Amino acid sequence: MRVFVPRDSAARSVRADEVAERIAACAQESGGGQAVEIVRTGSRGMLWLEPLVEVETAAGRIGYGPINPEDVDGLIAAGMLDGRGKSLGLVEELPWMKRQERLTFARVGVIDPLSAEDYEAHDGMSGLRTALTMTPAEVVEAVVDSGLRGRGGAGFPTGIKWRTVLGAEADLKFVCCNADEGDSGTFADRMLIEGDPFTLIEGMTIAAYAVGAAEGYVYLRSEYPDAVATLKDAIELARTNRWLGPDVLGSGFGFDLHVRVGAGAYICGEETSMLESLEGKRGMVRAKPPIPALQGLFGRPTIVNNVLSLATVPTILASGAKAYADYGTGRSRGTSVFQLGGNVARGGIVETAFGITLGELVNDLGGGTASGRPTKAVQVGGPLGAYLPVEQFGLPMDYEAFAEAGAMVGHGGIVVFDDTVDMASMARFAFEFCAAESCGKCTPCRVGAVRGVETIDRILTATAGTDRDKHLVVLEDLCELMTDGSLCAMGGLTPMPVRSAVRHFGEDFNA
Ligand SMILES: Cc1cc2nc3c(=O)[nH]c(=O)nc-3n(C[C@H](O)[C@H](O)[C@H](O)COP(=O)(O)O)c2cc1C
Ligand code: SF4
Repeated sequence: MRVFVPRDSAARSVRADEVAERIAACAQESGGGQAVEIVRTGSRGMLWLEPLVEVETAAGRIGYGPINPEDVDGLIAAGMLDGRGKSLGLVEELPWMKRQERLTFARVGVIDPLSAEDYEAHDGMSGLRTALTMTPAEVVEAVVDSGLRGRGGAGFPTGIKWRTVLGAEADLKFVCCNADEGDSGTFADRMLIEGDPFTLIEGMTIAAYAVGAAEGYVYLRSEYPDAVATLKDAIELARTNRWLGPDVLGSGFGFDLHVRVGAGAYICGEETSMLESLEGKRGMVRAKPPIPALQGLFGRPTIVNNVLSLATVPTILASGAKAYADYGTGRSRGTSVFQLGGNVARGGIVETAFGITLGELVNDLGGGTASGRPTKAVQVGGPLGAYLPVEQFGLPMDYEAFAEAGAMVGHGGIVVFDDTVDMASMARFAFEFCAAESCGKCTPCRVGAVRGVETIDRILTATAGTDRDKHLVVLEDLCELMTDGSLCAMGGLTPMPVRSAVRHFGEDFNA
């Protein structure tokens, strides 16, 4: 009999390791010779239920959670190992799971992340096997046709980027995966790497085959030690299985992959800064052009894609571009992995087709605030994303609809705030964050961020009327300058949370 216990770091932080140990010990003590195999998986993404233990039965997997190590003996005595006792029922039937369309995350929480057999038994490697029967150009066109857009923030069409790299003449090309995941409220990259690392490896190998790259790097943040360890182990196993190396799947095509760990600077998630850091230099933004697709790592044509963009490629190749493009709305095709965090009752991962509304995510899936107080605002798309009020909850999750509303979908992180939040201090924080994380290369960002903090302080201490209005004009002027004059999106987007706070929550700016 198999019992599944997550080894994801979110689950481990609430004692999943102890739960696993206690189940093993208790199963042995209670004797009866019941052979229990404990399988450590990724997390299903229902973080409020962690540690979520699942027991395999003839009907499917029955869930128990959240479980403390102290609960284990009682649960086993009540028949947990046979799927009896007080349970959550079938995990796949839980409303949170039923509401989702899991393509990128199909295997996360289901398989043992470091079992190659489990991976293949759940359709792993079928995307790469299909790709290797196609020409590189056909693979690129399949990704174009799928409508996949970069999940790291900017939403640039992935296939078009690949087409540029394919068309570039060079002795060497690279595939770089951006796993810096610095945005507040985002954790999908980490969960994917900890829960299904072979999918990322497969996606990067397909990318390499498509553009003619022989080497790849994953730039992973140091704050994710479990993800670093899992990915390194998975790469070793992939080499053993000839999924990586000089002769991938016996095709004659060679590709190998390396992990590089960042040092904790937000700006190293910006793609050119990341390339500088990968080259061993300080993370400073490069001026574009040249674009990385033509002159990237060590001056060679380079694909830079986010974890989720690359990890979505295997399902596109395995099931066909059309099957993927059939999900979604407008120019936002496929599914996206949204992340609910902050003051929310049910935080976690929701993978669903684009087009679901913000309100459905926050209220129906998230269950409103954890504090039980009314929701005041949500910030979507990381620290550079807009603050939106509940009046905007009808907005569909769609790149274009968000842009029209002065917001961005970004990496899909949604952070919820209740009515105790002071939006002027959140706007001030946006400038403070930019001042701390700016690489310092251009004046509008380096100096503008500091002036922004000062201006908000003046607004908050000004006497009502003329003084305050005057400073609000300066603030808008500063926002315009940073938007138009910054070299990269760090300074260019910092005005987004600021302007949205002023626009939707103007009353908080009164002294
Ligand atoms: C300040 C800043 C931080 C960023 N951080 C990340 C990050 O942590 N992860 C990421 O994938 N993209 C990040 N990006 C976006 C990258 O520059 C780039 O657009 C992305 O890696 C491209 O991959 P995609 O097309 O698959 O999204 C950041 C951009 C900026 C301006
Ligand atoms: S906008 Fe900020 S982070 Fe970007 S290049 Fe300029 S100083 Fe550096």
